[in-house]
Amino acid sequence: MSDYEQNNSEKSAISKTNFTEKNLPLDSAVSLGQSVIQTIDEAQCHCEHDREIPQVDLLTALTIRGVTFRNRIAMSPMCMYSAQDGFATDFHLVHLGSRAMGGAGLVVVEATAVTPEGRISPGDTGIWKDEHIEPLARIARFVEAQGSVPGIQLAHAGRKASCDSPWSGGRSLETTAEGGWPVVGPSPLPFDKGDPVPIALSKADIEQCINAWEAGTRRALIAGFKVIELHAAHGYLLHEFLSPISNHRNDDYGGSLENRMRFLLRVAERLRNIIPQQLPLFVRISATDWVDGGWDIEQSVVLSRRLKELGVDLIDVSSGGTTLDAKIPVAKGYQIPFARRIREETGICTGGVGLITDQQYADEIITSGEADIVFLGRELLREPYWAIKAQQFLGGEPTWPIQYGYAVKRRAK
Ligand SMILES: Cc1cc2nc3c(=O)[nH]c(=O)nc-3n(C[C@H](O)[C@H](O)[C@H](O)COP(=O)(O)O)c2cc1C
Repeated sequence: MSDYEQNNSEKSAISKTNFTEKNLPLDSAVSLGQSVIQTIDEAQCHCEHDREIPQVDLLTALTIRGVTFRNRIAMSPMCMYSAQDGFATDFHLVHLGSRAMGGAGLVVVEATAVTPEGRISPGDTGIWKDEHIEPLARIARFVEAQGSVPGIQLAHAGRKASCDSPWSGGRSLETTAEGGWPVVGPSPLPFDKGDPVPIALSKADIEQCINAWEAGTRRALIAGFKVIELHAAHGYLLHEFLSPISNHRNDDYGGSLENRMRFLLRVAERLRNIIPQQLPLFVRISATDWVDGGWDIEQSVVLSRRLKELGVDLIDVSSGGTTLDAKIPVAKGYQIPFARRIREETGICTGGVGLITDQQYADEIITSGEADIVFLGRELLREPYWAIKAQQFLGGEPTWPIQYGYAVKRRAK
């Protein structure tokens, strides 16, 4: 289990202040980079789901709506716990920019909180105020200038918010004196024994959260991101509503599958309505809680179908995070069968993630039609140039930055 997953023992609270957002001048502000964006007329409106093209492999470009990814290698969102008051820093620019220089087709900024209370830790990046836009825009511009597509994951940590950074132990920050805040969730059920009991969100609180996601999305688009990914995995707020383990509500948002899906479906619908037609919307889910009576792959298939109907373009298929009781069979590609099943049964594009480390295996995931794109986490931390190495390994043309390419191709005589 990754540090991130291990440190999912946290919590959060929605601001009680009314979330009144300015109507940001979205259409005029979204810059559509020439290199990766086509108009909707030129492009397919939906996932190409292109198994009819026999030669699709890891290095084949992928077009979703008006956005073309130069290959099917994505940098998975990874919290760096290094923001200040939600502001991305030079660290984030170099960290994300270097993977774009390293050839990835998509670079996704870490779980970025739509409210201050939705942060996993005080060091999470945030997008709850307009001032957060410019440092994120700098990252998006740089990533795009390197030929990669800039994406951002928009998140609320729910009952797993308000924690210390992993390298400081990742424990709950329970008091304001130690930098913490009250946490929220669907029901007053703590993630772990001894963790703070979350405040159950009222229907009005849920509306505020939806407004916050919409406002965060507007800001992300102004910053120049071309892919918005909604974080509904790993036991954070939206997943907490999906799972019967964390959701014991008996109103419109709890009980039946339809009710448990309602919050996520409403957020996805609102976001799709404001995201320009030529830009994709991804949703990351946990396909299963890995415990009996929890969220599972059958429900994930139903959910994915509904998300597709709302105009979601890709399901990024992860798993786990709701409970420490889960027995997760962590091994190479252990989540890939879920990506395959969702893809086959719903026709939506999927992303495969989890312990993908070698280029050959990543290529097989694509060529065998298990997923449309692979997300790499830790292996890209180990090797920023993984995508260029994949290009070399698979016989493609390495996409070195122009400043490097002419020099590295020159061999010593
Ligand atoms: C340091 C770290 C931070 C992470 N932060 C996030 C995150 O912000 N959002 C998310 O959905 N997953 C997060 N994850 C999970 C990764 O995106 C990925 O799904 C997971 O690490 C499995 O892929 P891997 O085996 O290639 O690392 C994080 C993982 C790591 C190692």
